[in-house]
Amino acid sequence: MENIVSLGLENVVVAQTDLSLVDGQNGLLVYRNHWARDLALHHTFEEVAHLLWYGHLPDQAELAALQEKLSAQRELPAYVKTAIDAIPHDVDMMSALRTGLSLLGGPEFAAWPPTLGQVISLTAKVPTLVAYRYARIAGHAPIAPRTDLGHTANYLYMLKGEEPLAAHVRALDAYLILTQEHGLNASTFAGRVVASTRSDLISSITAALGALKGPLHGGAPSEVTEMIEAIGSKENAEPWMRSRLEAGDRLMGFGHRVYRTYDPRAKALSIIANELAGDDPWFELATHVEAVGLRLLQEFKPNRPLNTNVEFYAAAVMRAIGLPDSLFTPSFAVSRTVGWCAHILEAAAGRIIRPQSTYTGQMPE
Ligand code: CMC
Repeated sequence: MENIVSLGLENVVVAQTDLSLVDGQNGLLVYRNHWARDLALHHTFEEVAHLLWYGHLPDQAELAALQEKLSAQRELPAYVKTAIDAIPHDVDMMSALRTGLSLLGGPEFAAWPPTLGQVISLTAKVPTLVAYRYARIAGHAPIAPRTDLGHTANYLYMLKGEEPLAAHVRALDAYLILTQEHGLNASTFAGRVVASTRSDLISSITAALGALKGPLHGGAPSEVTEMIEAIGSKENAEPWMRSRLEAGDRLMGFGHRVYRTYDPRAKALSIIANELAGDDPWFELATHVEAVGLRLLQEFKPNRPLNTNVEFYAAAVMRAIGLPDSLFTPSFAVSRTVGWCAHILEAAAGRIIRPQSTYTGQMPE
């Protein structure tokens, strides 16, 4: 049989999943029989995690049970804190998070196949890891997690040291729900590759996190704010972006492998960002930058429909609730952990992933 090369595995199907449908032609995103947009607007982080892990939205008792398990397991083991304390402050948040996560691989996480208990314990700890490291870099004492707050409210509380505004919790919850799951994106695929070897949950998630860190994937939102800061004024938007495109650079927050139309997550988040931002001049500039960017991309890449992606408005929402750039990608990890875990649970019994390459070197004499 002749091997077919698909660079970047474009259009290659390597798994069947009940978890999500990403319909790139029509701009639709479904999590297990529910529109992701509706889940983001009307449900909570825990409810959607329950949907992805257990297969259905929880009733009241199921939700209470999941909330209790998550909130009871937020504390980090002492040795993980000690190890994070030893990481120099100039090591970026994602690298420290990757190290902290990998250290969680004690006996609790050794069993294969991974269990829902492991998944809940890990998901509970990721926000604490982020907040712990953030506090250390900021030079203040880390704030211990609370058990009486929901997943998102507790995350914001640990970051800010005060009970967050309800509007901020709602907005962040919506973002975290919209990014919990997204088919076989690069990080989920990386996690599934490791899981397919029957390694362990923490190794799979650590691999996924490494993939998420890249600027073409989860690293994009902080680059969106950097781009908007660098543009600085409406008049500068066109010359700035034009010169970047002429130099062959990419505009961050635009384009997607699967979506050939507007990313539905960006559409939902733009509504939330709009509500939060009011007449914030930064947000006004961002919407101008979006419009100019879309026009220029059409001019420079007429054969490739390039639209706004989730990261553009993720940056706007996180900025509006007062999170600094350094927390954008770690916050993405807080949400995507749910989807990674759901895929790893689903893939645990699958075949080892082992594609091939075509040799283009020389043959020995
Ligand atoms: N700005 C300028 N040109 C672009 C962009 C962009 N943002 N995205 C794609 N292109 C061009 C690219 O240069 C190429 O042109 P040509 O065919 O002339 O060489 C063409 O479009 C196809 O690009 P590609 O790299 O083959 O497309 P892909 O499907 O492999 O890449 C992507 C998808 C998301 C990596 C890419 O669109 C990109 O780099 N976007 C900017 C980074 C970004 O915003 N990432 C967040 C993605 S959404 C959330 C997530 O997945 O985490």
